[in-house]
Amino acid sequence: MRECKIVSKKFEIENAHTLAVAKKHGAYASLEKLKEYSPLEIINIIQESKLRGKGGGGASAAEKWALMPQTGDKPSFLVVNCDESEPGTFKDRQIISKDPHLLLEGILLTCYAIKAKHAYIYIRGEYFQFQKILQAAIDEAYAEGLLTECDITIHRGAGAYICGEKSALLESMEGKRGHPRLKPKQKEPEWFFNNPALVNNVETIASVPFIVQNGAEVYKAFGTKQSPGTLLFAMSGHVERPGVYEAEFGTSMMEYINHFGGGIKNGKKLKAVIPGGVSCGVLTAKECENLTLDYEALRHIGSSLGTGGMIIMDEDTDMIEALKNILEFYHEESCGQCTPCREGTGWSDKLVAKILDKRGTKEDIDKLLEIADTMDGKTICVFAPSVSIVIVSFISKFRDEFEAALCVK
Ligand SMILES: Cc1cc2nc3c(=O)[nH]c(=O)nc-3n(C[C@H](O)[C@H](O)[C@H](O)COP(=O)(O)O)c2cc1C
Ligand code: SF4
Repeated sequence: MRECKIVSKKFEIENAHTLAVAKKHGAYASLEKLKEYSPLEIINIIQESKLRGKGGGGASAAEKWALMPQTGDKPSFLVVNCDESEPGTFKDRQIISKDPHLLLEGILLTCYAIKAKHAYIYIRGEYFQFQKILQAAIDEAYAEGLLTECDITIHRGAGAYICGEKSALLESMEGKRGHPRLKPKQKEPEWFFNNPALVNNVETIASVPFIVQNGAEVYKAFGTKQSPGTLLFAMSGHVERPGVYEAEFGTSMMEYINHFGGGIKNGKKLKAVIPGGVSCGVLTAKECENLTLDYEALRHIGSSLGTGGMIIMDEDTDMIEALKNILEFYHEESCGQCTPCREGTGWSDKLVAKILDKRGTKEDIDKLLEIADTMDGKTICVFAPSVSIVIVSFISKFRDEFEAALCVK
């Protein structure tokens, strides 16, 4: 397998989180390119590179950047999303703890391109230790005079998983502590609509220095035609060596699991994989056999690449228990604004608990599918449709297990 370290280049270097060591290994070198390129030219380079957002949705980074006004008549902002609370996703913490200056360099380039003077890094509350490392890097960058054109502020919050952009934005820019959930009927503050803000994931921004420094063609030499570049795939569950390993898009999933993960733990057989964080449809071992890790291949088989956080399940995994675990998370995280989501997440969680407890009936399985259908496409954000995909994929692919667990009376 070809080694490709774009974002993880300094991960193995001791003390690369400090400015001195990071600079010795090329940190901030791409800023020289800002003497050559205008903001629009930087956006064009990102456009040519086909960089896609690495926070789960895979949207074109440049298309989002191009929506930011270049007129400069209103203050605009960059918000970097470092929430990653979705089970199975733990890649961004690697960047902020092992190479925080790469993120800061990416922020400076992005702010230059979108003409933002202030970037906010929204970080989940539990990442206290990582936040300390990131703050130390920001302090060093200020002391070194690197942040003269742009300010960078960290805001810690307790779980902005829900609602993507909206909660990350609100919590970051208002500096609220605690849960950012908007209560039903609560209005967003006026600035929310008046100030343009771009939200990108940590890894998306950390990919920018390589592209600006080396050019779009060098980036596109990795990956596939439609999904160029690399991703920090995270692997958890029943593998010998769980962890975060960068690989190019288009890599064979099984090769990845065997090469980096050392294969399935204790020589067991693979049963299923959730390919990109729990919001993606589960895959059977058969579906994984010839699968490549890229947006198109995953979409083709009715799942998605998401954040690239793979959860590997061996032959002994109880799929009902696995679904119950996921639904507990969704139930807890639903912000409650939309009825299908508010009611559906709790209700499906209860029904799966009933089946797990051997008290379920065939009607409960049908009801789960009905709830999933109600959650699909009828809500404000894609949270509920994701729950729907997960429920349907588990039941349709492992229905025999659900039926075998039903109450026999
Ligand atoms: C339910 C839900 C959860 C999300 N969780 C995250 C997250 O933890 N981290 C993240 O970067 N993006 C997350 N996103 C995506 C963000 O809304 C946003 O699109 C992303 O940060 C944009 O960055 P990107 O375009 O660089 O991927 C989530 C979206 C949804 C709908
Ligand atoms: S689907 Fe609706 S209720 Fe569910 S998290 Fe999104 S906005 Fe909140």
